[in-house]
Formats: sequence, structure tokens, C-alpha cells
Amino acid sequence: MLKNKQLQEWIEQMTALCQPEDVVICDGSTQEYDRMWELLVASGAAKKLNEAKRPNSYLVRSDPADVARVESRTYICSEEPEDAGPNNNWINPQEMRGTLTNLFEGCMRGRTMYVIPFSMGPVGSPIAHIGVEVSDSPYVVTNMHIMTRVGEAVLEELGEDGDFVPCVHSVGVPLIDGKEDVTWPCNPENLYIAHFPTTREIWSFGSGYGGNALLGKKCFALRIASAMARDEGWLAEHMLILKLTNPEGLSKYVAGAFPSACGKTNLAMLIPTVPGWKVETVGDDIAWMKFGDDGQLYAINPEAGFFGVAPGTGMDSNANAMLSLNENCIFTNVAETDDGDVWWEGMTDEAPEHLIDWTGQDWTPNNTTPAAHPNARFTVNAAQCPAIAEEWEELKGVPISAILFGGRRATVVPLVNEARDWRQGTFFGSIVSSEKTAAAAGKIGELRRDPMAMLPFCGYNMADYWSHWLSVGEQEGAVLPKIYYVNWFRKDDDGKFMWPGFGENSRVLEWVFNRCNGTADAIETPIGNLPTMDGINFEGLNLTDAQKAELLRVEVDGWLSEIPLINEYYDQYGDRMPEALRVELNELQQRLEEAKQAVA
Ligand code: GTP
Ligand code: SPV
Ligand code: MN
Repeated sequence: MLKNKQLQEWIEQMTALCQPEDVVICDGSTQEYDRMWELLVASGAAKKLNEAKRPNSYLVRSDPADVARVESRTYICSEEPEDAGPNNNWINPQEMRGTLTNLFEGCMRGRTMYVIPFSMGPVGSPIAHIGVEVSDSPYVVTNMHIMTRVGEAVLEELGEDGDFVPCVHSVGVPLIDGKEDVTWPCNPENLYIAHFPTTREIWSFGSGYGGNALLGKKCFALRIASAMARDEGWLAEHMLILKLTNPEGLSKYVAGAFPSACGKTNLAMLIPTVPGWKVETVGDDIAWMKFGDDGQLYAINPEAGFFGVAPGTGMDSNANAMLSLNENCIFTNVAETDDGDVWWEGMTDEAPEHLIDWTGQDWTPNNTTPAAHPNARFTVNAAQCPAIAEEWEELKGVPISAILFGGRRATVVPLVNEARDWRQGTFFGSIVSSEKTAAAAGKIGELRRDPMAMLPFCGYNMADYWSHWLSVGEQEGAVLPKIYYVNWFRKDDDGKFMWPGFGENSRVLEWVFNRCNGTADAIETPIGNLPTMDGINFEGLNLTDAQKAELLRVEVDGWLSEIPLINEYYDQYGDRMPEALRVELNELQQRLEEAKQAVA
């Protein structure tokens, strides 16, 4: 079974280092999946949900100190600090190796080391890549089963001399000296999520949650893959992929980058409110894109499942997600109902009268704390989504016609803005800012720049990443997607969302599609190409003319006051900063100043 020599040797090394009681090579089978749950249920770590309500599904509560990605403990250990850039935490790789060796030495004593061979992307796709995660968490094994392709086919593809990205994970709690295990072992005081882009390795210690522990996702498919993509001329992005079909039956594929908990899953599964239009899901979090022979960018979803934000997901906001969750799911940090099912804020208008909250305490609607953690998640196989596109596992990927960038911006940024060309689109991506969400530890609501939604996920210097984006645009023979800057999160003076969002975002997708199709007009403005007032179908929406105008308004003063902030932001990248983006910024400023003069 293990014919890959490099893999054999690495497993031997990891076994010697971590000193597990047992080593299990995972085969990705249903029996293996069930066996993990038997273990987790027996230890009290998981609860099987009511079989009649939610077949083959489990509820897991994490330690309250381990509920989200921890960006402050995430490191890019490139040889030089400048190669990690101001967007990353950097520690000298030799120093980090020393730290990690100390931590990992004997860290799996009393536990089983699971060896999880996985493919990011359909096995055999020219865009896919293989990783192997060793982990002492059976919960990680179950999630990897759903989120990636695990098992025999991957080892077969790896062959005798294929390459893989080694991913080492431990919860960091060895069972020594008669120590009793806890339901969610973790070691938050010694947390490290370390990446070595030069040698393409990942080491994660101390957390069992999401992106900290499922190393195929953010660690591999974004941080390491972004560095691979730079070296090899492709793109690894924090993007959903959707298939959009117009009433005439013509289809186009759209990718979209939005920061964590800013609407990718929702947009990917959207049910259009515009009659005759259809959206199908290809991916909801990550896109790997490579040029095809025809010069177009082809995207695959490297994942096999959804690790989605539960709160806010309901039949009215995201029916396709809800319908995906009927069975065979993992729920983490949601609330439990009295009949052995799950609940979270936003699932129904009214909360049940009694729940067990995510911390295991009794909860009633009188409680002031939420029943589900704001970053509670569901894990489900993508194939179970009723909106999944038939080509979602297409080996060559799907050709991308448009790329959307967006974030949570209460002010200034209009509903949609089209870039003149790839260079301006790259500029749009570079200036995206967004209010922080519960997907990562830290202060919620704080506005920060999150270029291309990649701030926590770019595995190298962000300025070099922008240069890479610009160079992709200069690729000989490239047939490039159009690029849009969108904002579903504008608020009025009362702090209410001005745009209804969710399914209504199809109105913006319609304009984007028609622009790509050459069948919609745009107005050239100082900030970019905006829809004409009748370009967006506002029909049936409860919006006044003033509100519609506001959503599509060029806020000259607001944009002008952004300019020095963007310049300041760019300044931190020093001489790594690509000149083209400074030029874009200066030209934007000039156009805005001219517009201001014209009005005066
Ligand atoms: P990650 O999995 O963390 O990368 O998040 P995501 O980008 O997939 O975000 P998701 O679609 O799960 O949405 C996160 C939150 O944003 C949910 O609570 C949604 O209810 C909310 N949301 C999504 N789309 C919209 C929208 O169009 N308008 C508004 N107001 N809220 C939205
Ligand atoms: C995100 O935070 O962008 C996620 C969740 O998609 S996690 O897998 O934890 O990174
Ligand atoms: Mn994400």
C-alpha cells in the first residue's frame, strides 16, 4: 500500500518524533469514518444526533479556548523576513524548527497517529495536488474525509516517487503519567501554525479547530499553494466558484473573493430572485486557477466539502446549505435541541424554548449569550448540496469569466464597480477592506485591509503577490476574466443594511453576466465602470429611488479620503510595492479631484 519511499521515510521520522502508541494509515473508507465516530462518541467528545431527525450526523463541542483560526500564532517561515512580508508573522525557519522539535517530541504519547493521504482537487486533475497529514485527532480524520479526497486512490496517484506536501498536526496533549484525556484536547498556550514555503511543509500544534487543524484547507490550499502558484504561474485564491445560467440557457462561471464569514458560501449557493436565472455551486471557499490552452483561466475547487458558518444559515437566507445538511454532517459548536437535533441563530426566526448551548449549558431565549458560537461550523460533503454543478469535479476545471472582490463596508464602496482591465482589477483587489468577523480570534467589526480576501492566507509577501497577479494579466495569449468590486454590506444612517443581499445578489450577478456577454451598458466614472440606473434590475425590491442611487453613487469625498490611507497601507511594503498599483492609485486620485472640481 505504501509504495512511496519518501512517504515511508517521513512516516518513520514522524513516528520517531511524536512517539504515538499506534500508527494508522487512513484508507478513506466508510468503515474508517464510522470507527472514528465510535471512538469520539465513546470518549464523550461527540454526540450522535437523533437518527430520525438528522441521520448519520454528529455534534462536537470544542474547548471554549479553541473556536477559530488564530492569526497571531500563524507563521510563514521563509528564509528572509521580507519574503513573508508585513502581512505575515515571520520566525526564522531554523529557530522555528527548534521550537517545533521540542513541542512535537513525544507529543502523541498515549495517542494514535493517523496518517491521512489526501488530494486537494479531484484525483488525477492536472490542477490538483497531494498532501499527507499526520494527526492525533480522530475529529480531524472525520473532517478530512469530508473536506478532501482521502485514501487508496491518492496513494495510487502518488506512486513510488510522487511529491506530497507533508502536514504535521498534533493537538499537543500527550497522555502521559496516567493523564486522563479530555473531550477536546488542545494546547492554546503553545499554539503554532507554521508554514515553510521553501520546503513546502506545514506544522500545526495545539489546536483542533477548522483552519488550524484541517491542514489541507487554509494552510496547504492557500498559504503553501499561493507560494507554489507564484513559482509556477497560476493562482491559489480564497474564492468561491459558481456557475451562472441566464434565461436563454447560456452559462458562465464566476469566482469571488470575500473575507472569512463575508458571504462566499451564501453566494456560491444562491437562489436567484431574478426570474429565469440559475446559480449552481462549484466551490465555496477556495479556487485554484491555471491557464488552459485557450488562454482562459480554468478553476477547480480543491476541496470536497463545505466547512461552513452555521449561524445566519436558514431556509430563507441559504436554503441550499440547509438542504445539504439533512444527513451525514458534522456540527461543531452549534446548540443542541431537546430532541437531539441542532440549532443556531438564524436557523429559524424564533429560538426553541430550551437548548443546550455550545458550551454544554442550559440555554433559553432569555440568555444574553448566543446558543451557538458565532463561528460554529457544519462539515458536509459538497456532493450533497442540491445546487452542486454537474461539472464541479471536472478534471480540467471550469473557465472563469468574471472575478468578484468584496468585503464588509458600511460606507463608500458601491454595490458593484467594474474594472476597466486586469490591472485596475488587481488594484481593486489590493485595496479591499472589511470589518473583522468571528472566523478568526480577535476584535470583531474592526475595519482592516484584506486584499483579495487573502490577508490571513497569502503565504508570502503581499506586494510580491500583487506583482504575481499583475504578471498573470500580462501572460501571452491570456483571455482574462473581467474583475468587479462588490459590496453587499452598505449601511444606512440607522445602521441597517441598505441592500437585501443573499438571493437578491443575483441582480448584481445578472449585470456582471451581461457585461461579460457584451449585452449591458456601463457608465465610466472616476472609480470604475458602474451600472446605469436601469442596468441593475431593482424590480420588486422595496427600495426608494434615493436608496438605489445611493447604492450606485460615486462618493467622491469618501473615496478621496481613502487615498492617503491606501498610500499609507502601500508604504509598508516599501520597494516591493509594484509600481503599477501606485500608478492606478494616483490616476484614481486625479480623476476624483477632477470630478470634485467639476462639481465645484
Ligand atoms: P468562511 O467560510 O469563513 O470563509 O465564510 P464565507 O465567506 O463563506 O461566509 P458565509 O457565506 O458563510 O456568510 C457569513 C455570514 O455572512 C453569514 O452569517 C451570512 O448570513 C452573512 N451573509 C452572507 N451573505 C450576505 C449578504 O448578501 N448580505 C448580508 N447582509 N449578509 C450576508
Ligand atoms: C475561513 O476562516 O476563511 C474559513 C474557516 O473558511 S477555516 O477553515 O477555519 O479557515
Ligand atoms: Mn474561508
